[in-house]
Amino acid sequence: MRQDIFITGSGLTRFGEWWGKSLRDLMQEATDAALQSAQLDSSEIDLIVVANMLSEITNNQANLGSLASSLLPHRPPALRVESACASGALAINTACAFLESGRAKTVLVIGAEKMTDVSPDIISDALMGAADSEKDTPSGLTFPGIFGLITQRYMYEFGLTREELSLVSAVHHKNAAENPFAQFRQPLSPEAVSASPMIADPIRLLDCSPVSDGAAACILSTEHPGGMRIAASQAASDTLSITERSTIVSFPATREATARALSEAAIERSDISAIETHDCFSIAAIINLEDLGFANKGEGIGLYQDVAAGRASLAINHSGGLKACGHPVAATGIKQVIDAGKALVQTRGRYALTHNFGGACASCGVHILENLEL
Ligand code: COA
Repeated sequence: MRQDIFITGSGLTRFGEWWGKSLRDLMQEATDAALQSAQLDSSEIDLIVVANMLSEITNNQANLGSLASSLLPHRPPALRVESACASGALAINTACAFLESGRAKTVLVIGAEKMTDVSPDIISDALMGAADSEKDTPSGLTFPGIFGLITQRYMYEFGLTREELSLVSAVHHKNAAENPFAQFRQPLSPEAVSASPMIADPIRLLDCSPVSDGAAACILSTEHPGGMRIAASQAASDTLSITERSTIVSFPATREATARALSEAAIERSDISAIETHDCFSIAAIINLEDLGFANKGEGIGLYQDVAAGRASLAINHSGGLKACGHPVAATGIKQVIDAGKALVQTRGRYALTHNFGGACASCGVHILENLEL
């Protein structure tokens, strides 16, 4: 980072099914909460970056920059960033570039998605926009289908069992019980995950992040201090299609973005005490822990076993992750940064890492936060 970028304020809506609220309402609610937590007058915002993937399909609404700008009385300049489910992280990454260059001093970053107003078929097709429309979609794959293939292959290569996999969602639901913004706060046993309806063999309903509405907003500033600093903001990409990869059980974009983020923050992996990682499906959480470098290949489940046994030193998806918090896709990367900050405050940790990806990790954003209030 060329200069300190502070998280001056943040706000969330609860994620869930919000039939009575529009996309604009959700954005306004998160923005108001962020401004209030920053104790800033809205006129201090000199740019808005809004993350959204699906609004043309789900809300018949484009031009989200202008929509976001109209939330504030002085209508600051605003732009939209789209990178599928990684839109939130890439929006923060874009805001950091404006702040580092000095083109903006205080930026409002909003991620919002309203997914539940359309039918399951429409949302499933729309989400496939994150894959390759020529190479992946014609086979009839959906995202649960893609991650079903990835799970099959991972089980074949590393011997992961169905029972072991079910621990991932059980841990995430246990964490979410303490999170008032989570979509699903009820505890879930591994046995219930294994017995839930089949979606895309071997993926079951309770291995999947849900379809959700929600918004997250944070105010990043080089001028107005806050309790957290963004110590690193990095992005990386991979092939859009999984058919062009040498393996589907590891995501190189995660490794690349993480290595660059650790170098930018000038810290070691062992300095990190909390992570929020992109568990769109249970298998993704396991693969991510390996690619983030916290577990050896094939051993990611061991970290969940450590958490379940109460012997983990790393807080993993303290918020409940995508599985239990919900996944209004473009809001997720921003919500992860907010929740990683909360995890640092609660655990009195210094560094946290967030990891957000789009498609089958075709785009990836990694952020490192530093708690300045220790
Ligand atoms: N976790 C926990 N409960 C869930 C759930 C989930 N992931 N998804 C649905 N439920 C619950 C619902 O609340 C509902 O409960 P209710 O009957 O008490 O109201 C019930 O299960 C059935 O939900 P429904 O919405 O009818 O399920 P569905 O079959 O339409 O959708 C999935 C289930 C898994 C297909 C859908 O959530 C999905 O596609 N998820 C993946 C989204 C995705 O691909 N995101 C991008 C990732 S890269």
